Amino acid sequence: MKKIAVFASGSGSNFQAVIDAVQSGRIEAVICGLITNRDNAGAIKRAEASGIPARVLNPSDFPDSSEYESTLLEQLKEWNPDLIVLAGYMLKIPDSLISAMPDQIINIHPALLPAYGGKGFYGLRVHKAVLDAGESETGCSVHYVNERYDDGPVIDQQKVRVLSDDTPETLRDRVLKAEHQLLPSVIAKLLNKT
Ligand code: GRF
Repeated sequence: MKKIAVFASGSGSNFQAVIDAVQSGRIEAVICGLITNRDNAGAIKRAEASGIPARVLNPSDFPDSSEYESTLLEQLKEWNPDLIVLAGYMLKIPDSLISAMPDQIINIHPALLPAYGGKGFYGLRVHKAVLDAGESETGCSVHYVNERYDDGPVIDQQKVRVLSDDTPETLRDRVLKAEHQLLPSVIAKLLNKT
């Protein structure tokens, strides 16, 4: 059975979509653990409710970045995932992890990359920028993670129409629903293909 590790910093609704898809058998894998940088992340409660081990690793709790990175790598060595899924994870992934797991780390982003991606494009800022530019459509993207924010090759995208009365919040909510469909479907395709 393939193993997935999820990294999440926030409420974890995308994490939940992955949990649901694993529980329903749509994704043939187990979730071996959650990494979060915030001890009050909603994602932790979702992990607990589903019996998934959760580990809080915050770089500022470590004396230096190399101790943080080696602790992170050790935890992942123990879980031994086939795939790492960033589902609303707000920290940059250390280069050491990217080189340890090439093409095995994916991220979901709430826009049609390469548009509205990169440093500073997160949360409502993304949707506000889409509205400010007068776009008629937006969406979400799942892409491989490389050393730069939101920059690795796109695996799949789902489009969402922008409505004339959208606010950043209403747009975020509709894009989030699309994310909950796209992320499990990409994971299923990646893991179930072999
Ligand atoms: C999502 O919009 C995701 O694309 C972005 O952060 C948000 C996380 O939402 N990277 P949630 O915690 O999964 O609800």
